[in-house]
Amino acid sequence: MFNLVKGTHDVILDEARKYSYIEVVLERTAELYGYKEFRTPIIETSELFLRSVGDSSDIVRKEMYTFDDKGGRSITLRPEITAGTIRSMVANKLFAMQDYPIKGYYCGPCFRYERPQQGRYRQFNQFGVECAGVIRSERDAEVISMGYNSLMMLGFQNLELKINTLGDEESRNKYKEALKEYFSQYIDTMCEDCKERFKLNILRILDCKVKEDREIIDKAPKITDFLSESAKKDFDTVLTNLDKLGIKYTIDHELVRGLDYYSGVVFEFHYTSSQGKNYGAIGAGGHYNKLIHELGGPEIEGCGYAMGIERLASVMEDDNLFTDIEQFLDVYLMPIGERAINESLSIANVIRMSGYTCDICLENKGMSQMFKKGERRDALYALIIGDNELDSHKFVLKNMMSQEQIEVKENELIDVLDDLFAEDEHDEHCHCGEDHECECENHHDDEHCHCGCHHKE
Ligand code: HAM
Repeated sequence: MFNLVKGTHDVILDEARKYSYIEVVLERTAELYGYKEFRTPIIETSELFLRSVGDSSDIVRKEMYTFDDKGGRSITLRPEITAGTIRSMVANKLFAMQDYPIKGYYCGPCFRYERPQQGRYRQFNQFGVECAGVIRSERDAEVISMGYNSLMMLGFQNLELKINTLGDEESRNKYKEALKEYFSQYIDTMCEDCKERFKLNILRILDCKVKEDREIIDKAPKITDFLSESAKKDFDTVLTNLDKLGIKYTIDHELVRGLDYYSGVVFEFHYTSSQGKNYGAIGAGGHYNKLIHELGGPEIEGCGYAMGIERLASVMEDDNLFTDIEQFLDVYLMPIGERAINESLSIANVIRMSGYTCDICLENKGMSQMFKKGERRDALYALIIGDNELDSHKFVLKNMMSQEQIEVKENELIDVLDDLFAEDEHDEHCHCGEDHECECENHHDDEHCHCGCHHKE
């Protein structure tokens, strides 16, 4: 037996199905806003993260999995996907046409050497979006509302959107000066992390959770008093648009985010499950003004967010938000005797190639054991074939739930399945995440469902 590497976990069977469900809902929602998928490498040059996430961030200072490859290059397992996505936009010359914004979504594993705890892993999965080429703050509001709506699509009801602005560079520099003056009176009495942050990135002191330090931090100057007119206007535009969209938020002037590339609006989606468990931020993001240029692109700004799939899945599990995602087996093929077993692969092949899931009992069990196996596999129909059935070219198809059975001619099997599943299909729930019956007639076709989701069964 080999142990798991600390901070990692297997995602298998039902849990893997739940992860896929979350990813599909998030991807479909991003597509509703015109985003397209980006799949970038898990390994990138270490320099990429030093330049983007920043050398004063905890991620770069303490949490990166960095190693030299056999050619002596410094390589890092990505701790986040924003940097790789923007790098790929530059490398693939997507900015050449100047047709902004470039909108990308992504999903995949990230790695951070953190202390493993509830909702915090060393290998975890992120879904995120980047909108590169933001020229108006309405776009920031659109990105935030997309994140919010994605979570609504997953069934999250009592979301808490925390929002703040880090202002533009001018405002931020003035604010940092004021913080320096204020904290220099107390820094000797504050925790070691604060002392380090005082030197590296004073804004991050506002993040400190140590109780004694909080009393000092709560009385520190607020960013609002240092915002330039344009920074104030940008933030107001975001808030007004969120108001218009009916999205509730809490302004949190201590929200500064742990990555160095942010400027302007920053936000986090928080959620406490109905069981009272606080998962911290299930998603977070913000506006960045220099990142694209720093990574070799034009002088344009961007905005994005990322969500932790593990955190979403835990909350959804706690709050019973996974509905209608059972994985049924359409047909369980039960061959009786050697001859039927020999024929079963060809019959199953026809069923599968017609789009129905099918498993075969090749273990030559008795009928009752085969039915038990079918039940354990959540089979909807059992297809029973023995010598008589092969001779007469008529099979027995049994509904596992109602126990009703019918005789089906071999050459009509797929037509019969089509009819049976078309009936079942009609009152199926739509998988877009909204809690409504899907009434569209093209549920199986490559068509838009009336609810707006673009799904094929
Ligand atoms: P972040 O806040 O570092 O932002 O991570 C985004 C989300 O990833 C978090 O809210 C959390 O749900 C999840 N997450 C982070 N660390 C862990 C962990 N150790 N275990 C489990 N889940 C975790 C970013 O990564 C930015 N790139 C977001 C962004 C995109 N900003 C602009 N565009």
